[in-house]
Amino acid sequence: MTKVPFFDLKKQFIPLRDEILDEIAAVCDDQAFILGAKVEVLEREIASVCGGGYAIGASSGTDAQTLILMALGVGAGDAVVTTPFTFFSTVGCIARVGARPVFVDIDPETLNLSPARLEEFFARECTSQEGKVRTRGGLLVKAVIPVHLFGLCCEMDEIQAICARYGVPVIEDAAQAIGAEYPSEEGTKRAGGIGEFGYLSFYPTKNLGAFGDAGMATTKHAWMAQRLKVLRNHGMEPKYHHEFVGGNFRLDTLQAAILLKKLPHLARWSQRRWAIAQHYRAELADLEPDVRLPSEPFGKVLAERGHIYHQFVVRVTRRKELREYLRGCGIGTEIYYPVSINRQKCFAYLEAGPFPEAEAAAEQVLALPIFPELTDSEVQFVADAIAAFFKE
Ligand SMILES: Cc1ncc(COP(=O)(O)O)c(C=O)c1O
Repeated sequence: MTKVPFFDLKKQFIPLRDEILDEIAAVCDDQAFILGAKVEVLEREIASVCGGGYAIGASSGTDAQTLILMALGVGAGDAVVTTPFTFFSTVGCIARVGARPVFVDIDPETLNLSPARLEEFFARECTSQEGKVRTRGGLLVKAVIPVHLFGLCCEMDEIQAICARYGVPVIEDAAQAIGAEYPSEEGTKRAGGIGEFGYLSFYPTKNLGAFGDAGMATTKHAWMAQRLKVLRNHGMEPKYHHEFVGGNFRLDTLQAAILLKKLPHLARWSQRRWAIAQHYRAELADLEPDVRLPSEPFGKVLAERGHIYHQFVVRVTRRKELREYLRGCGIGTEIYYPVSINRQKCFAYLEAGPFPEAEAAAEQVLALPIFPELTDSEVQFVADAIAAFFKE
């Protein structure tokens, strides 16, 4: 019997049920389903959650990323640098626009793209000429995509400084990090609003989840916001006139209406995730080195705003046995991600790697239940079960 599920969206829905159903009914009464005023309001609200700039609603985080790559003219003959330890879509989108994904290994503490490895990549693997950076194979390096994995921002000051030196734009993958803050030397910044371009996902299990697929592209630049808006609607501007080839990447009114109802709760939900994370940390601290806790590099400066704990991911020895033991106790867990992307069959042609830190992480990571409605006694039950396993 399940005692502590990995997540349970119904618990979030029940207290909001009536107001969300009213919103859905209002959209149905209106019979206007594509983009519209609700999407525009959501775009303004999300831009403000990201600390300013522009936000452009899209049909998913994947589509928001694709839009940004298209808007930057990324395609055949280009390379885009990213982490091999991420959800597939970060890399899939690069390949889908015709560019070549290039991996840089992660920092074993944060599991995010390592600035030191990125510096090495540019210094050892690239040549610069007339302000353009090329890989040894002659591909133009068009962008770097750091991923704020599990809700923790990357070391963006370092990454941006390196990329600025080489004149390569940074696109933040903030799909898992809405509301997470970063202590930049220029002041506190928010995921999706740290660099020039970024994107968020509202996949249902995200900290702010829609009732289906939805996402948002973010940018500091008005020209980019305008281009993204045109591209998400077949490159059409004005009606039935197409200067660019875009696609259908539009956000539904219905999803925007639902997200607007959920957004006021986001800060409280993220705080609760932080409290659960601190509970796990206190209970599991003695189990090092069998259990390695997630790093909180910004915790001292920013406390709960420095990590939004989309996932609470520990690194463990004997992962398979522990997972089975927890399943036997009625506790759900997940593995994000069991295979580093450089090892995925579809990317065998890249002949990339090895990436020892990403590959080691893929063998050891285990995500524990973390969602705002988990009770303290459920968290304690999970922590006790893990302790019992390692003390057996
Ligand atoms: C790191 C990361 N990037 C991109 C995405 C893509 O977002 P979506 O599922 O909304 O397309 C996700 C979604 O899971 C993600 O976790």
